[in-house]
Amino acid sequence: MIHVLFVCLGNICRSPMAEALFRDLLKKEGLTGKLAVDSAATSSWHIGDPPHQGTLAILKKYNISSEGLVGRKLTKEDFEKFDYIIGMDETNTKDIAKITGRPSHPKIIRLLDLTELKKDVPDPYYTGDFEETYRLVSEGCRALLEKIRKEHHLV
Ligand code: 4NP
Repeated sequence: MIHVLFVCLGNICRSPMAEALFRDLLKKEGLTGKLAVDSAATSSWHIGDPPHQGTLAILKKYNISSEGLVGRKLTKEDFEKFDYIIGMDETNTKDIAKITGRPSHPKIIRLLDLTELKKDVPDPYYTGDFEETYRLVSEGCRALLEKIRKEHHLV
C-alpha cells in the first residue's frame, strides 16, 4: 500500500479538499486498493472539526464525496507512515519538516511543484476563492498521481 498525506495549515480547507479529490481520482482510475489517502494540519486549531463550508460546497458541486474528512494535527510518526507528504504552500512544507523533525526530504513536496505552476495553493480561508483552490488542487493531484504511477510502476 502506498500512503499519501496532504497537509495544510488548518486541515479544513485545502488539504481535506485534496484528500477527497485524490480519493475520487483513484476511484475513477481503478486504483482505490493500492493507495491510502489522509490529510492533516500543521496547527492544532481544528482538531476534530469537519471541513469548512466552502470546501464542502465545492466538493458537493463537483459530486465528490466528503465522507470521513475530520481535522487532525500532523505528528512526528506521520513521517515514517507516509510515502508522500504533500504541503499546499511553502510554509506548510517548512512546518512539516519542523514537526516531523526532518530537514527537507524528497517525500516532502509542495503540491504545485509537481506542475508547471511551481507556486503555493492560495489559502481560501483568507481569499474566499474555493473555486480557484479546486482548480489548482485538481491540477496538482493529477500530477501527483502521474509521479506515483511512474515511481511505483502502476498501470
Ligand atoms: P487551510 O485554511 O489551511 O487550507 O485549512 C485555514 C483554515 C483555518 C485557518 C486558517 C487557514 N484558521 O485560521 O483557523
